[in-house]
Amino acid sequence: MYDWLNALPKAELHLHLEGSLEPELLFALAERNKIKLPWNDVEALRSAYAFNNLQEFLDLYYAGADVLRTEQDFYDLTWAYLQKCKAQNVIHTEPFFDPQTHTDRGIPFEVVLRGIKQALVDGEKQLGISHGLILSFLRHLSEEEAFKTFEQAMPFRDAFIAVGLDSSEMGHPPRKFQRVFDKARSEGLLTVAHAGEEGPPEYIWEALDLLKIQRIDHGVRAIEDERLMQRIIDEQIPLTVCPLSNTKLCVFDDMRQHNILQMLERGVKVTVNSDDPAYFGGYVTENFAALYDSLGMTQEQAKRLAQNSLDARLVQ
Ligand code: HPA
Ligand code: ZN
Repeated sequence: MYDWLNALPKAELHLHLEGSLEPELLFALAERNKIKLPWNDVEALRSAYAFNNLQEFLDLYYAGADVLRTEQDFYDLTWAYLQKCKAQNVIHTEPFFDPQTHTDRGIPFEVVLRGIKQALVDGEKQLGISHGLILSFLRHLSEEEAFKTFEQAMPFRDAFIAVGLDSSEMGHPPRKFQRVFDKARSEGLLTVAHAGEEGPPEYIWEALDLLKIQRIDHGVRAIEDERLMQRIIDEQIPLTVCPLSNTKLCVFDDMRQHNILQMLERGVKVTVNSDDPAYFGGYVTENFAALYDSLGMTQEQAKRLAQNSLDARLVQ
């Protein structure tokens, strides 16, 4: 079944490039940049990947990103991810990157963007994988800081298709970023946002009504609000669901409790994605395989999920 799932043509619509930094590459970059790490070896780092919630993961994710310093580092990170896409028949990807994670450490915006974008362009040419890049704002920081990041991005406007919103959800509702999202839309960018991962259904309403998002990242808590479910079904608003992430971060205690197939059968446009594959135990195929192993996903359901991902692309 794994091989069959792996061979399905699919798009990945929820992937943080910084979250695809595998421990081996993390150690290699630390050595190249002469950075002393707080972990002795790859095994010690991997054993730290046990999380009770989103924040515990984010603390490690931001610490790991510190090894990314040069344009070549960002290129290598992105290229390694694209190799995985190739191996798993991901024919299109719309990855996020978090510029503030790097500019706040003194890495210039253009160093980050050039490395990532060059790898994505090479991926199109050499691997045949198309892409649309999404600039994501960190929601634990202020809207003013998001505006500053947006200004830094504007000279490279054509490198992006959309802006997004990630990081610590609780206490940082979408409405905090309404003006910067308005500004992004006025520049012709599309919008997406993480909502309803740990946060309540109200955050999903806000993301739809105030940020005017095209897609909901995660959104699994929508199931708690029937009126919201009806809207998502009626308007066919896609959800980028990340099953392994949701169990690793205890959004669901066990994969057998995951609601993705229940949503699929109700007519929600759900898709399968890997979020931060280096931290959560696998890429897109492993996420599909988990649904087969724990939820008894059929081949017909897998085909619909893969087709949803192709239909929900922001760039067709
Ligand atoms: N949620 C919020 N922020 C994130 C995530 C996530 O799953 N991954 C990386 N940043
Ligand atoms: Zn995410």
